[in-house]
Amino acid sequence: MNTKYAILIASLLAAPNVQASGGSESFAATNTKWKVECSACHIAYPPKLLPASSWKAMMGGLDKHFGTDASLDAASTTEILAFLQKNASSRKPEPSGKPQLRITETRWFQSEHDEVPVRLWKDPRVKSPSNCAACHTQAESGNFNEHNIQLPR
Ligand code: HEC
Ligand code: HEC
Repeated sequence: MNTKYAILIASLLAAPNVQASGGSESFAATNTKWKVECSACHIAYPPKLLPASSWKAMMGGLDKHFGTDASLDAASTTEILAFLQKNASSRKPEPSGKPQLRITETRWFQSEHDEVPVRLWKDPRVKSPSNCAACHTQAESGNFNEHNIQLPR
């Protein structure tokens, strides 16, 4: 079945606010400092989206964060890193040796999204795969359940 219809049907069958079940993972872990500091420029990407080694590398280089300066004071950096590592993905880091900083470049992300048509990633309403909320309507609250996906059409 075409993914778009599969999703449409799934969302029609689903009662609103049904909790994630079956294959859906929970991304609900939260921390106030993280939520405030890491959602200033994009959604606060849930810790479970990357392994601990990636968070360590990222938090060690916030002054050069994807072409921008996202640095924080030492206490905030330490608190946020501890939160991210505690709730990190338990998937093995990828074998390249170098910690991956982009969720969207992980094999996990790519296989989860292999049915998304290429033209959608470039749609002006999406702009970038990093813009989770363009399709995941509840991304800001860490909910990526397939029932809450709405593709731009
Ligand atoms: C000053 C703005 C700013 C702040 C503050 C900021 N970021 Fe970012 N972040 C960016 C930009 C810009 C990108 C690249 C986005 C893109 O390519 O579309 C990015 C990308 C990311 C990505 C990769 C997304 C992907 O493509 O998979 C992660 C993970 C991330 N940030 C985590 C964090 C964390 C953790 C914090 C808090 C410590 C944080 N960011 C704070 C600007 C910021
Ligand atoms: C262009 C739209 C789009 C964007 C942008 C997007 N996704 Fe998705 N995502 C989807 C679709 C569609 C699926 C469902 C795929 C399927 O079921 O075949 C999905 C599935 C998922 C799932 C699995 C959900 C479940 O219930 O099994 C997760 C987790 C997820 N995405 C996270 C993210 C994150 C994190 C980002 C941003 C870094 C993101 N997505 C960006 C469209 C998108």
